[in-house]
Amino acid sequence: MTGLVVAIDGPAGSGKSSVSRAAASRLGFDFLDTGAAYRALTWLALERGVDPEDRDAVIALVDDLGYATIATPDGTIVKVGETDVTTAIREPRITAVVSDVARIPEVRVRLTDMFRAMIAASREAGIVVEGRDITTVVAPDAEVRILLTADEAVRVARRSRELTPEHAGTATQLRDRDRKDAAVVDFMTAAPGVTTLDSTDLDFEQTVAAVLDLVEAAR
Ligand code: DC
Repeated sequence: MTGLVVAIDGPAGSGKSSVSRAAASRLGFDFLDTGAAYRALTWLALERGVDPEDRDAVIALVDDLGYATIATPDGTIVKVGETDVTTAIREPRITAVVSDVARIPEVRVRLTDMFRAMIAASREAGIVVEGRDITTVVAPDAEVRILLTADEAVRVARRSRELTPEHAGTATQLRDRDRKDAAVVDFMTAAPGVTTLDSTDLDFEQTVAAVLDLVEAAR
């Protein structure tokens, strides 16, 4: 069966991104990483010399975003206009300030409209969408809604493994980012109808399998 929307929210380091991507691939569904769009807008702000805390200037940039994603067998290419920003949007300089951009309400409204159009375009194929407010704001009517969590210590450890040794400040950074992000969207508490999937004691494969079980149950 096709056409399911699978919405997955959760904090930084919950494994949300890689688990969602793997689940989409195994289901043969499209995949939408909404955080990448907030990162792309942040990249554009820094590129244009716009202060991420200058709300009006950042809002004005949304019209210029020219956001596009291209699915390839090796992953998703993210473009801003003609520029491939796939790698650049993961740089620490982006991670450090993306919360400032993501907390601007007008930015959220505009990007939410864009995400809904992308989801509508993938309705036939089925889609896994991940972020912070997908189960509550972007796609509250998704057939499958999951809040993926893990204890903070486990999230910090997972994040550290993804980073190079010089990024020793992981624990503080992760806590800071969660605190800033959670002030905008409460992604630590499951909304009614949302299933909490705690991956603290699960490895990657077990977590993906648990997501696939929830999708199967909704079919
Ligand atoms: O998941 P991520 O680290 O790539 O997300 C980047 C930032 O965007 C993070 O600060 C949270 C924010 N974000 C958001 O507010 N809402 C979303 N749906 C996705 C991400």
